[in-house]
Amino acid sequence: MDRLENEKALEKTRAIRAMFGAIAPTYDTLNRLLSFGVDVGWRKKMVARLPSGRPLKILDLACGTGDVGIEVVRSRPGAQVFGGDITLPMIKAGLPKIEKHGMENSIRFQGLSAEELPYRDGLFDGITIAFGIRNVVQRDLALKEMARVLKSGGTALILDFSMPKNPLVRAFYGFYFHRVLPLLGGLVSGNFEAYRYLPKSVEGFPPRGEFVKMMEEAGFSRVTHTDFTLGVATLYQGFRE
Ligand SMILES: C[S@@+](CC[C@H](N)C(=O)[O-])C[C@H]1O[C@@H](n2cnc3c(N)ncnc32)[C@H](O)[C@@H]1O
Repeated sequence: MDRLENEKALEKTRAIRAMFGAIAPTYDTLNRLLSFGVDVGWRKKMVARLPSGRPLKILDLACGTGDVGIEVVRSRPGAQVFGGDITLPMIKAGLPKIEKHGMENSIRFQGLSAEELPYRDGLFDGITIAFGIRNVVQRDLALKEMARVLKSGGTALILDFSMPKNPLVRAFYGFYFHRVLPLLGGLVSGNFEAYRYLPKSVEGFPPRGEFVKMMEEAGFSRVTHTDFTLGVATLYQGFRE
């Protein structure tokens, strides 16, 4: 990547950080409201794919307000979660939840970028990233970093919104995402732009097969994808051999 491209990528990342910083205080409320609470079940299904029966060291990237980390510790007793995100106000909004669950000794937050992880090779048993990879500007770099810090045999779980394949569902989804969601999201958060960005970012995300290929190129094997709720969300899973 040349200097100009690098500067453009940094500029985009700064804009993403500013956007999440602005919506951080209302993020959780709007998540539940706009997804009718189904986002909770999607995260649970993702975390259920982590190995069980031994204490795990998990990296939760783009951790936001910590919902994935909380589910990991709840369902995998003894797990140590490292939550990393570029937006400190999102992390800050998550701290009272960690305290409320008494998980201060199990979940540690850190400001970091998924494209440059401050961890040694092969450190983690598992990596999770929910509704995050879509927002990462240099996705190929982030995927390579994830493969690097994963133990041999470890798994990466990537959950995000998808474009439904069924034309009818897709039409309803388009209407909801473009008309209803930006209005509700804008009214509650006071940031209309952030909720106009969401459908655009989902539409701009690579199709399932292409993203699987990106994961394979980054060093993951046995990559699969599973659709949830009529293909509104997709869970990608890959392993480090
Ligand atoms: C939609 S939120 C998801 C939060 C959380 N994982 C969840 O399930 O609710 C997306 C998060 O990605 C973070 N993010 C965006 N780009 C990032 C990057 N390059 N590295 C780390 N975090 C990033 C944002 O700051 C934001 O907190």
